[in-house]
Amino acid sequence: MKLFVKTKDKKYPIYFGVNNCFKIEKILEQNKIYPKKLIVIYDRNIPKKILSKFRNKLKKNKNIFFGLHFSEKVKNFNTVKKILNVLGKNNFNRDDCLISIGGGIAGDICAFAASIYKRGLKFVNIPSTLLSQVDSSIGGKTGINNFIGKNMIGTFSQPNVVIIDIIFLKSLPKREMICGYAEILKHSLVSNKKFFIFLKNNFKSILNLNLNTTKKAILSSCKIKKEIVEKDEKENNLRKTLNYGHTFAHAFESTLGYSKKLNHGEAVLLGILTASKFSNNEKLLPKNELKMIENHIKELKYNNLKNYFKKNNINKILNFMIKDKKNNSKDINLILLKKISKPVLNNRYSQYKVKTFLSSLFDK
Ligand SMILES: NC(=O)c1ccc[n+]([C@@H]2O[C@H](COP(=O)([O-])OP(=O)(O)OC[C@H]3O[C@@H](n4cnc5c(N)ncnc54)[C@H](O)[C@@H]3O)[C@@H](O)[C@H]2O)c1
Repeated sequence: MKLFVKTKDKKYPIYFGVNNCFKIEKILEQNKIYPKKLIVIYDRNIPKKILSKFRNKLKKNKNIFFGLHFSEKVKNFNTVKKILNVLGKNNFNRDDCLISIGGGIAGDICAFAASIYKRGLKFVNIPSTLLSQVDSSIGGKTGINNFIGKNMIGTFSQPNVVIIDIIFLKSLPKREMICGYAEILKHSLVSNKKFFIFLKNNFKSILNLNLNTTKKAILSSCKIKKEIVEKDEKENNLRKTLNYGHTFAHAFESTLGYSKKLNHGEAVLLGILTASKFSNNEKLLPKNELKMIENHIKELKYNNLKNYFKKNNINKILNFMIKDKKNNSKDINLILLKKISKPVLNNRYSQYKVKTFLSSLFDK
């Protein structure tokens, strides 16, 4: 199964399947990628068994295998420099190829390095987490963190090929599955109510990796992202709706100093819930639809801000919301929902208004 993403100057395939990453040589050929040199940069948490099978499937020419421990702490220039050095020392050229096998962190870093080395070499992304399969591997946002914040340095550069292989999810910790699920849920809320109902009815089998339901959820989610990226690659308008819940989520994560207590996807679930409550408070999202979202997030068990924050954390949360890179005024810009599948952009609220709203959540 294959989907194509068509942007202004690139068209590339996303392959879906089980064990399809092992068809790598055929896929490279199908996409006219004939590298003289090839580097595979992989996340060291991926099972060795999969990696060595993958390695055996590659033609025995000059392949370099380079494993790294990826985390937000190393999503920086030092890691990019390491990659650029290996490429340089081995005389990689534009027709050569970098394959990333890893989650969103590996993918974002490798895509960035591939986009700036000699102004771009061939890049194949093999996402290995649910989040990277349904979200970060599609759409061409590459990037690293620096002292101003998360993903502050980067490029828009679409990959040449994406290979989504469910086999990687078998070794993925449950909490990481929830992270990916949060983005799938977000996709449904901003664009497809039927898909949201499907998720409500099937979330357990998706999280338990029932092949058919998981595949369907991944595919539907990728279709939504693909359609949005095709309409607005550079995030001038529609693509902003993919940040639904994220202004709150980033502020929640930052307030806790990116502690393990609340990881990104869990913060996104709390963020989605908060943005939905705010939407209802603003007389946009109807009560019955808010209830549906609330009940679902309750089933996922990430529904209570009070488990993570105290009322006196609100000022800190607000400060992070103001500094959010998608925010460009003293007011707070929020993506809200008029209905499930009908997002509204450019809603500006005063800090006072958001503070009063957040306080009310702690008073209940
Ligand atoms: N570019 C974009 O459009 C975009 C969109 C959303 C998120 N992101 C970025 O994605 C990153 C988060 O990605 P993520 O959630 O995939 O996190 P991640 O890359 O940190 O992976 C999560 C954890 O799973 C491990 N892992 C990866 N694959 C595994 C496997 N198959 N089996 C066992 N363990 C495995 C990793 O080592 C890591 O510990 C963030 O940095 C975020 O900014 C980018």
